[in-house]
This record gives sequence, C-alpha cells and structure tokens, in this order.
Amino acid sequence: MEEEEIVCGIVGYMGPGEASRILIEALKRLEYRGYDSAGIAIWNEGKVEVARKKGKVEELRKEIADNEKFQGNLGLAHTRWATHGVPSERNAHPHRADDVIVVHNGIIENYLELKDELRKAGQEFLSDTDTEVIPHLISSFMRKPMAFIDAIRQALTELQGSFAVGIINKKDRIMVAAKKESPLIIGVGDGEYFIASDAPAVLDRTNRFIFLEDGDMAVFKDNQLSLMDFQRKEIVRPVQTVSWTGVMAEKGGYKHFMVKEIFEQPRAISDTLIGRIREEQGEVGFEELELPDISKIRKIWMVACGTSYHACLIGKHIFEANLRIPVEIDIASEFRYRDPIMGADSMLILVSQSGETADTIAAMREGKKKGAYTLSVCNVLGSTLAREADGVVFTHAGPEIGVASTKAFTTQISVLYLLLLHMGQKLGIMDSDTVRDLISEIKKIPRKIQKILDDAHAVEELARKYMTCKDFLFIGRGVNFPTALEGALKLKEISYIHAEAYAAGEMKHGPIALIDENLPVVVVSPVDQTYQKTCSNIEEVLTRRGRVILFTDDASHDMRQKVENAITVPETIYELEPILTVVPLQLFAYYIANFLGTDVDQPRNLAKSVTVE
Ligand code: AGP
Repeated sequence: MEEEEIVCGIVGYMGPGEASRILIEALKRLEYRGYDSAGIAIWNEGKVEVARKKGKVEELRKEIADNEKFQGNLGLAHTRWATHGVPSERNAHPHRADDVIVVHNGIIENYLELKDELRKAGQEFLSDTDTEVIPHLISSFMRKPMAFIDAIRQALTELQGSFAVGIINKKDRIMVAAKKESPLIIGVGDGEYFIASDAPAVLDRTNRFIFLEDGDMAVFKDNQLSLMDFQRKEIVRPVQTVSWTGVMAEKGGYKHFMVKEIFEQPRAISDTLIGRIREEQGEVGFEELELPDISKIRKIWMVACGTSYHACLIGKHIFEANLRIPVEIDIASEFRYRDPIMGADSMLILVSQSGETADTIAAMREGKKKGAYTLSVCNVLGSTLAREADGVVFTHAGPEIGVASTKAFTTQISVLYLLLLHMGQKLGIMDSDTVRDLISEIKKIPRKIQKILDDAHAVEELARKYMTCKDFLFIGRGVNFPTALEGALKLKEISYIHAEAYAAGEMKHGPIALIDENLPVVVVSPVDQTYQKTCSNIEEVLTRRGRVILFTDDASHDMRQKVENAITVPETIYELEPILTVVPLQLFAYYIANFLGTDVDQPRNLAKSVTVE
C-alpha cells in the first residue's frame, strides 16, 4: 500500500457560470503547485460527471471538451504533484464513494486504520491514496442515516493530519469546503463563489477573499455561503480585498512567468518600500507589525528553505554588522530536528514566499513552543506563516507564479533591510541621520535594477555562449557568497545543469581541483571589502585555464580585462549588493534554460510551494 503524500491544488465553483470552463482555467493557474495529473467533477441536476487524466491540465481539458455531460454550474477540480506513488488516473482526484465526491490537498495520517475499518464495513477502495478514505467515511455516516453536512463534520473530526477539502454530493446542490493545516481560501465573486488552494487560481474572477483558519468549514447552498466550525458553531471571517489582479497573475506578454517576474522586480521593490519609509524623519515602520520590547533579545535566528534561506544568509551579514546581535541561520528541515537552544530572549525570523512551506511552518511552531518571538516575512496574505507567527511583515512582490523564485528573493532582502533599520532605531543603535542615509540608498535600488534589465541582452548573449556547458562553479565572499548560492540554485533548478556554489575562500580547500578549461567559474565580486581577496581566487582559476565569468559593479575591477566575460551592475552599499548582483544571475539562468527548451515555469520534479515535508 503506498501512502501518497500530495502537494496539489484544489478549486471549486458555485455560481451562474459554466463550472467546467471556469475550473479548468483555475486549475491552469494552480499548475505551478503541482502537475502530474488532474481531475474534475461537475454537478448537474442530481447527476455528477467525473473525469481524471494523467499529465497536465490541458489533457483533462481536451478530455471533457464538447462533452455535454460536463455542463453545469457547480463543480470541483484538482491538480496533483505526488511525492509518493506514481502519477496515475487511478490515484488522481476527485475521489468518490456512492454520492460523495471529494478533492483534497494534504496528508491523512490515520488513513490506514480508517481504511481497515471501512473495508470491514464492506467499503470497496479503488486507489492507493489516503484521500479516498474521506468520501467513504462521509458516505458511511450518511448511511446511519445522517444529514450530509453532519456526516462531513463527523468525518472531518475523525481525520488526523492535514487537509484542505472540497466536497459535493450527487443529490443536493451543495458544496462544502473545510481546512486543517493545508491552505484553502474562498473567493467571493459577483453572485458566485470559489474555493481555491491559492488566490492566483481565481484572480481573473475576483480579488475578494476569505482566508479560512484551521477548523473552519464553509457551506455553499443556493449561492449562499455560511461559515461554521466542525461543531457547526457559526463563525465570522472578514472578506479581504487583495491588491492583485488576474492580469498580474497572467504572463503579460512575456514568454514565461519567470522572466515576467524578473522584470517586475523594480516595481515589486518599490511596492515593498511604499508606506514604510519616512526619509525626512529618518524612520522606518510597518503598519502590520508592532514589535514587542526587543531590548531583551540576545539572539536572532533566521530560518527558511531554498531561495528564502539564501535571503536569510544575507540577513545574517547585515544584521550582525549593524546590530551586533548574534544571528544564527538554519535550513528549516534541519532546524526543526535540532532541538535548538532558544527561549524568550530569542527572535526567530521565518522567511517564506508562499507562507505554506511545511518545514518552515514546523520551524515556527518549534520556536513558539520554546518561547521565542516569531516573526514571518511572507508574500501571501492569509498564509499559515503570516497568520500563525507572533508578527508578520509582507513582501509586496505580487503573485509569484514561476517555480523559480526571483522577485520574492529581492523583496525578501528589501524587507530584511527595512527590518534592520526599524530594529536599529528601536534599539537606539541607529540614529535618524544614519537611517535617513540608508533609506536613500534603498530608494535608488528600483532604478538601478531597471538599468540592469535594460541591458538584459548582454546577459542573453552570455547565456548563448555557455548554454552547452555541463557543470558550473559559482563563488563569492561575504554577502556575495549567498548570491553565488542563489545563482547556482536558479541555474540548476530550471536548466537541469549541475551548478554548485562555494565561499570563494574555500577554493584551496578542495574545489580548485575541479578547475580546467571546460569549467565556467561564475565569480560574484563587486568592488567591495571582500574584492581584493576574491581577485586572488580569480587568479588561481585563470592560471589553471579556468573560464571566469565575472559579475561585478561599475567600479574599476583589476580583473575585468583578464577574465573571459564580465557583466556589471550599478554600484550600491555593501548590504544591498545582492539585490543588484542577483538580477543578471537570474537572467543568466533563465536565458540558458530558455535556449535549452526546459519547462522554465514548471521545472521537472519541482513545485512552487512544498507543503509536505
Ligand atoms: C526557489 O527558486 C525554489 N523554488 C525553492 O527553493 C523555494 O525558495 C523554497 O521552496 C522555499 O519556498 P518559500 O519561500 O515559499 O518558503
């Protein structure tokens, strides 16, 4: 029996529109969450038609096109990225038992026991999934007899683990949604309702959302919505308007979401700064954050995964250099099992674009358990990390659809920089003149990025030259080492070329053995306090006939004439260099992947938000 852990996207619709068309469109916008099989169920006057297909959503669309059985204005749909169990039609959602149809995102941890009990009661199972126990459990309660809504409540209280579910039944024109630990939101349209794992799925139809909390249940009947908990006690949740629009979640004329989001970075950073900097007064503040007394803080932790972890590494440099408070960095999947030594004198900062990364959520909960003050830096309003941490600061990057994170990274660094200034003020370490000077530096960043983007063709030519290389080494020192890590991650995850990054000072301790005339070495080295030492690393590579590609700034760099290629970015202060130097590295990875023809927005084996461990 294969337990199936699934990261996926669910959507549901009730309204006057054509459910199948609306749901397929919504699924296509969720494909970045996972895409190895998809399914749909349409309710129409006491009948439910279900179709499931291996492969991308487009395969499902073709399957049901022009089939009048799939006409109707109520339905559910699901796109899947499996971490266990092969992608197959049999395991695709929706799953059904008698009249009950369910789509699910999450992991039912006690599904084996439930399955045994239900089998003993004569239930037949068709798939290997944990999800399939949900419709069977509901159906078994309905046979007692029990009303549909009560049978659902009873079943949900028996489930252990995480779930975001959409449920319909053949007999009644009712849709039910419920949430526990997996993301689920309600879209409130004009006379129509949506349920979705994530806002971009339905942004073309509404930008008004209700963010469900764990233990919430939503019942949609006769185009009316009622909210309750699993004990049927009425609850109230605000309808929030997100400033995202469907167009923003579209490609806007770009070939891929990733390149669109790279070019959106000037705007994303400007939006992240708006309303938070008061240059004249030399102040930085956040309307969504009221820090407690931080004079007691003796240690800061920054914990995340992937690209967000690289943002934390930069955070360490700038926080320690300016606040002189120890900052410990950790990868969330390591942190949560290390029994970290922390307490009320610790601040735990969690960085996450999606706010739904399972390991980062677990790290936050571990920190809370130990009494630390938890602060999340997220891009998604209403996400678990945004809601559950003691404090939150939002990046205002807008929806990031490309699996490879770009504008989220540069806005995360921007937020960490603003947080540094804010905390520096509160601690009396930074006076208003210092803060004013630093504010004026970050205010110039959007224009400096735009200048880099205006010169993107130079990077495109570079990518064309190196696209056939099979290995890359990225090196950097100080704040440039996390940038080198990020450049290597971008390249490997979208082009599938092997790329690794090292602290430049580590070359002599092993990596230099790799150097030969076939190995391109990307050196991230603006002319800053680490530059001289990095020059000697470049010499080491050149004397071994290595191929150096230098990413530096406009200041004169001794090695500019000696290296094979150089890309320059505008100068800025040390703390902000990564926001600029990462942009040509993002473009370098993008153009190589584009030339190679890989699936840039949905790279193989990856999902945008890893909501399983
Ligand atoms: C970045 O390009 C990757 N897609 C991935 O490493 C990502 O940064 C990581 O999964 C963390 O996601 P989060 O920021 O949503 O927590």
